[in-house]
Amino acid sequence: MQNNIYKLTDPQGKISEFPLREGTFGPGTLDIGSLYRDLDVFTFDPGFVSTASCESKVTYIDGDKGVLLYRGYPVEQLAERSSFLEVAYLILYGELPIRSQLDSFVNTIRHHSLVNEAILRFFTGFHYDAHPMAMMAAVVGSLSAFYHDSTDIHNPRHREVFAHRIISKMPTLAAAVYKHGIGQPFVYPKNDLDYCANFLNMLFSVPAEPYQVDSVAAKALDLLFILHADHEQNASTSTVRLAGSSGTNPYAAIAAGIATLWGPAHGGANEAVLNMLREIGDVKNIDKVIAKAKDKNSGFRLMGFGHRVYKNYDPRAKIIRATCHKVLQKLGRDDDPQLELALRLEEIALKDDYFIEKKLYPNVDFYSGIIYRALGIPAHMMTVMFAVARTVGWVAHWQEMIADPHMKIGRPRQLYTGSPKREYLDIGKRK
Ligand code: CMC
Repeated sequence: MQNNIYKLTDPQGKISEFPLREGTFGPGTLDIGSLYRDLDVFTFDPGFVSTASCESKVTYIDGDKGVLLYRGYPVEQLAERSSFLEVAYLILYGELPIRSQLDSFVNTIRHHSLVNEAILRFFTGFHYDAHPMAMMAAVVGSLSAFYHDSTDIHNPRHREVFAHRIISKMPTLAAAVYKHGIGQPFVYPKNDLDYCANFLNMLFSVPAEPYQVDSVAAKALDLLFILHADHEQNASTSTVRLAGSSGTNPYAAIAAGIATLWGPAHGGANEAVLNMLREIGDVKNIDKVIAKAKDKNSGFRLMGFGHRVYKNYDPRAKIIRATCHKVLQKLGRDDDPQLELALRLEEIALKDDYFIEKKLYPNVDFYSGIIYRALGIPAHMMTVMFAVARTVGWVAHWQEMIADPHMKIGRPRQLYTGSPKREYLDIGKRK
């Protein structure tokens, strides 16, 4: 390396030079854009372990130190002092709002909460036991049918209206998904309630009797949403970027993100953690489960443990863990045996050489499910809750990408190891 230029020489002596690009923090990034042109080779990095897929100003993670910053602000400070919609503003616009900006943003988000009645009729096509994430991906994707001609992705105002609409409508759709599953009537949004209180009201109220939103529950949900709002280039956000890079309708790109979030290695882990805790059932079974997680042949992993980026305690998990007892106590659910089980499981895993050597710590999903459950949200709805919050991050990354004048369609290359060229044989001549 010389003057921040890395060089690669091929066996024939041809050289390609890669400038090192420095970010605000973190490891430098080699700009290898000229590699194929200079040396006629690609790079191979399945799972993007060493590859920065884009430049971004939204979120920064230091996985070794357990640091998470939204637009430069530590998540701990935002969790303690901010609110979900203020954090949403920060993530979308890059700065904390002044009072008038926040009031105007909150007002706008409140007033986009209704969805077209035709969308609510879609639900009759889903079986009562359809997975909520399957319904979410479908109904959010179908918003593109309602807002296609009115969404010009090259028009900044259209992009902003899209951002407001989707953030505002996600709780309405998520609540409709839940109500469909339990056979209750849909509850319309109430714009005089704040974002999380309105969401809880749509989830849990019924026309037959009055319902009072518990302010402790609304505050706990707001906190979980702050912690889930963005996480830089994770699988679902990268999917939204990749889908969006083709110029597709942004609601369709968000639907692709929802589909990706669903998997148990990603957002689906919160549901999987609760299922795992239920199966463990008792503290006396923890050793067996730890042994199974360490056995490569079992195909089992300790859900809610490990992270591609964090090789230290996930700061979000730290906050949720600390809040768990307080929230459960205030909600009168502090006798939840699953919390005790989770705490004990964590304690045993963190002392185990396997988890120490591989730097596997609890991630955001390990404790979030316990709070969601205390709020009355069943396990199969938990990834939907994650999706509602993460929509803010997806939208911010999509906006950042589309607004970039150098945006290109995402088009990875491959190492082809299939058959060499061969001739087509008529069916009668094949063996
Ligand atoms: N239990 C047991 N072993 C594990 C676990 C686990 N939860 N996670 C990783 N390992 C082992 C893995 O077997 C591998 O061992 P070896 O080096 O001997 O082959 C090593 O640790 C490294 O794992 P990896 O799969 O190469 O790491 P990754 O960065 O590709 O995967 C992960 C990260 C989150 C997918 C993985 O840790 C995992 O499957 N965890 C359980 C699912 C989970 O909780 N996901 C939620 C992630 S946080 C929410 C979000 O933002 O999506």
